[in-house]
Amino acid sequence: MNDQTQRSRPHVVLGVSGGIAAYKACELLRLFKEAGPGAYDVTVVPTAAALEFVGAPTWAALSGSPVATEVWQHVHDVPHVRIGQTADLVVVAPATADLLAKAAHGLAGDLLTNTLLTARCPVVFAPAMHTEMWEHAATQANVATLRGRGCVVIEPAEGRLTGADTGKGRLPDPGEIFALAVDVLERGTAHSQDLAGRHVVVSAGGTREYLDPVRFIGNRSSGLQGYALARTAAARGAEVTLVAANTALPDPAGVKVVRVDTTVQMQEQVLAAAAAADAVVMAAAPADFRPTHVEGAKIKKAEDGSVRPLELVQNPDILAGLAQHRPHEGLVVVGFAAETGDAAGTVLDHARVKLTRKGCDLLVVNDVGGGKVFGENDNEAVVLGADGSQVAVPRGTKAALAQVIWDRVVALL
Ligand code: CTP
Repeated sequence: MNDQTQRSRPHVVLGVSGGIAAYKACELLRLFKEAGPGAYDVTVVPTAAALEFVGAPTWAALSGSPVATEVWQHVHDVPHVRIGQTADLVVVAPATADLLAKAAHGLAGDLLTNTLLTARCPVVFAPAMHTEMWEHAATQANVATLRGRGCVVIEPAEGRLTGADTGKGRLPDPGEIFALAVDVLERGTAHSQDLAGRHVVVSAGGTREYLDPVRFIGNRSSGLQGYALARTAAARGAEVTLVAANTALPDPAGVKVVRVDTTVQMQEQVLAAAAAADAVVMAAAPADFRPTHVEGAKIKKAEDGSVRPLELVQNPDILAGLAQHRPHEGLVVVGFAAETGDAAGTVLDHARVKLTRKGCDLLVVNDVGGGKVFGENDNEAVVLGADGSQVAVPRGTKAALAQVIWDRVVALL
């Protein structure tokens, strides 16, 4: 970080270029400003075109700092070099095709492009544009150039674009950009692209096993850990398939999300994606059992008050099946285990047995003796390796744990 001895809080530059998604950068700015009292010092540098979409007073009011677009404003303060030199992180959201081209070629016609040339800190671009512009060879070459220089360029999300059209090119959810930016601030970009060229599969959420069209057996898994894994893998350059069961979370930036309901559906999708994958991380909570029979119509109460027993059959163990019958050599398989210690052994004793029984390469072990993990933002775990390794991850965000898991996966790939 830049000069942290003299400044207690990181200085973030939020660059905004001229696209309709500029209004979503207001939300990103709020996330930085509301992260905690004085958590980040944010300077907004919009381009002239960005001000056509959102005016300077909005940026100044939300950031609490003056806003300039051209190098000719506040010249005595030499802003065209000072802002970049003192930044700890530059985030450009939205980054238009035009801005990416200027950044890739080192043009410096306004304050934002000057800032990008003088910044020596990590730089994150969150592109947003129409699909044709994103896919154009010129844009792709510019993105490759920027990534080659160590910048993080987030893959745009898929969905509704400005007009009636849909496709790849949407600005990712501001919360996703914020989480990624905070991670880059904390860890730098050293690991930034170490999953480039890799395809990883992550499962998340809890499956539902239906009794009839309206009732099911489910569990409380929120999907937060799996989503953090998917988001961080994509940020590290991986092609990510997220097989999500019954989650209510925004799609992580640049991730292909496949939605499923039941354990059998999850197995189908995980196995299909695993065929071309380098790693599979089973962070989901698939139900171990399902009703033997699913009624086609809603089950009615019996007139005589009698209750019929619920008959269950065991579901396939997706993790064990995949680990023991790998579709190809070199696939890294990672499981999760929620354990409690008891008279027969400690949490880690039970986890070691499970690691061997399932046959996976890594097992992420949560001690759930005290209760809580489901739906919480924090997590604490031990990552056990089939090679006997053991890495303790202290209580921290689920994103921080995800990063350690990917570090371990990268070491095995
Ligand atoms: N898992 C799976 N398929 C299932 C159940 C679980 O792939 N039908 C995966 C989970 O995604 C997770 C790990 O297995 O990665 C968790 O295993 P857990 O449910 O703790 O193990 P069980 O074999 O059910 O053991 P236990 O008897 O301790 O519940």
